[in-house]
Amino acid sequence: MLDWTDRHYRYMARAMSKHTLLYTEMVTTGAILFGKGDYLGFNEEEHPVALQLGGSDPKALAECAVLAQQRGYDEINLNVGCPSDRVQNGRFGACLMGEPQLVADCMKAMADVVDIPVTVKSRIGIDDQDSYQFLTDFIGTVSEAGVNLFTVHARKAWLQGLSPKENREIPPLDYPRVYQLKRDFPELTISINGGITDFEQAKAHLAHVDGVMVGREAYQNPYMVAQVDQELFGEQQASMSREDVVEAMLPYIERHLANGGRLNHITRHMIGLFQGQAGGRAWRRHLSENAHKPGAGLEVIEQALAQMQQGAAHAAQVQAKRKNPEARS
Ligand SMILES: Cc1cc2nc3c(=O)[nH]c(=O)nc-3n(C[C@H](O)[C@H](O)[C@H](O)COP(=O)(O)O)c2cc1C
Repeated sequence: MLDWTDRHYRYMARAMSKHTLLYTEMVTTGAILFGKGDYLGFNEEEHPVALQLGGSDPKALAECAVLAQQRGYDEINLNVGCPSDRVQNGRFGACLMGEPQLVADCMKAMADVVDIPVTVKSRIGIDDQDSYQFLTDFIGTVSEAGVNLFTVHARKAWLQGLSPKENREIPPLDYPRVYQLKRDFPELTISINGGITDFEQAKAHLAHVDGVMVGREAYQNPYMVAQVDQELFGEQQASMSREDVVEAMLPYIERHLANGGRLNHITRHMIGLFQGQAGGRAWRRHLSENAHKPGAGLEVIEQALAQMQQGAAHAAQVQAKRKNPEARS
């Protein structure tokens, strides 16, 4: 997710789960081939990690795919789901659902030059092209190019008139349509995405499809990721505590600071770690108010933890009093 699942978030996610497949933000072929920065950088610890590309020029995509494989990515995913104007102007993202043959050409161009899987993330339709037939034509054409893993965001995108945010909320979710896709293309690996916020839902989907992709919830409530291995991959070992996650991040943050990085570039992804917990608000507030200050270091995290614990202790006291109003404080 753009601006969210950068390498720092992914490092934290990997610290919490061995098995989850992590995806980069969408990176355009233009940025990779002509940009000044290194858009392909990631931490070795992140494996397995998929690079998501944005683009529609088969030659440029193939060049990027080669670079991605050289850098060690485990999968290359093409974005056919983003509806933003900027992306449409570049003729990629969700609007490509209207050009299945072009998507097939793009995927074939990449598959021809790399050994790692090339996969697609799409919607279930765009604008008025939202029939099941439209979706199966798209998947059929693209799978003929050698793609056998599709992640499908179970709502269509309106290319005009809705913002990207609205396009993640307003078009209704249609999970049965994605289930039907799996029934009609049993040989393909179909992963479902959109509106999934807990493991009960994830397990219900897994009765119909092969995989579940979680976006916003895994970011806003990142501790969810710490339970994936136990909930979905049969891991027996107990999951890490929230405090363990903070602890696991400290050496990484220390290295980042020593290399001249800013504290908040990492802690912004940790703000939701205690979401829903007593003291969670104090944690969030302390990080938000202090981690961006010049020179902010690990002490900010220690203070935030202390404030969180104080907040939790206070909440416990209040609760005890509520249960037993006679008790003296
Ligand atoms: C801030 C933000 C950035 C996103 N960036 C991307 C992106 O780069 N590539 C992509 O395929 N989807 C992107 N998405 C969409 C999500 O991957 C996902 O498809 C969508 O949010 C629905 O899933 P969810 O309900 O689990 O969040 C983004 C979503 C958000 C909220």
